[in-house]
Amino acid sequence: MASQLRGQLSATDPASATDLTGAADLTGAADLTGAADPTRVADATIVRGLRRAFDGRTVLNGIDLTICPGEFVALLGRSGSGKSTLLRVLAGLDTEADGEVDVPSRHAVVFQDARLLPWARVLDNVVLGLGRSERGRGERALAEVGLAKHERAWPSTLSGGEAQRAALARALVREPELLLLDEPFGALDALTRIRMHALLRELVARHRPSVLLVTHDVDEAIVLADRVLVLTEGRISLDVQVGVPHPRRRHDGAFASLRARLLAELGVQDDADDHADPDPVFDTSSDFGADLDADFESSPSGDDTDSENDK
Ligand SMILES: Nc1ncnc2c1ncn2[C@@H]1O[C@H](COP(=O)(O)OP(=O)(O)O)[C@@H](O)[C@H]1O
Ligand SMILES: [Mg+2]
Repeated sequence: MASQLRGQLSATDPASATDLTGAADLTGAADLTGAADPTRVADATIVRGLRRAFDGRTVLNGIDLTICPGEFVALLGRSGSGKSTLLRVLAGLDTEADGEVDVPSRHAVVFQDARLLPWARVLDNVVLGLGRSERGRGERALAEVGLAKHERAWPSTLSGGEAQRAALARALVREPELLLLDEPFGALDALTRIRMHALLRELVARHRPSVLLVTHDVDEAIVLADRVLVLTEGRISLDVQVGVPHPRRRHDGAFASLRARLLAELGVQDDADDHADPDPVFDTSSDFGADLDADFESSPSGDDTDSENDK
């Protein structure tokens, strides 16, 4: 079955439009919105029967998923379960998958690494690919993420958290209907990550995009999302509404029971009470220990504490 991929990032060159900038080429996307299809629900992200194999090995084995306008969905799964593969298909970066994918025309991606062009100043990175008249929008987006003073800075002078703020600004300036986030805070220390969670919640509340957040951090998923999915053996094995009232605190009963349920689905023992090391089989990434066992009151585990802009 051929892929039916509407609303891709660029009509001409999706890879170059997004691999470098992580953001949609709106000009190209406008041609591929699928707006003529009367069955298309406005702004919804719809995936039907999505399959993806690499060298004969099936990674996604029939994914069905609808993300409603304004919905914040987190996608959990073990390392190698296919989370990034699914996100790349939605971003239009992988066009080899089989199935139907209908994505809003305006979408943008933020990856774990900010992917800022080192030879372009921060503001130029944010408005990359947009017209010169959009610089004002870029300035406003940088102000929104607390980087107004860094417009003319070079990317190499930014801390990890600041670089991710710039990446968020670059995504926001495109006013995405769907924001795709692939472990965007995975490389940040615990305190910076908490600040980024607050910032993301604020930005999402203001701009109201649909969000698909790929993460291997169960607590992050519960803190941020309306709904959490678990990807297991190529399928969505659990799809659950979060329903925990804000502010969501780790030791509240509803939070703890959802956490236990998600960890069980992931095949991980819940270590919330004894603060033991997490089961290393779940994910081997270097920051994993901080993810599942972060003491949010402790000092940062890394040396990437941000400057005064991280308030
Ligand atoms: N371009 C590719 N070529 C071959 N194998 C790939 C490619 N992309 C991903 N894979 C494989 O697909 C599986 C899922 O990868 P990925 O989606 O990156 O997992 P996750 O993001 O959940 O950690 C892994 O086994 C990975 O090695
Ligand atoms: Mg991944």
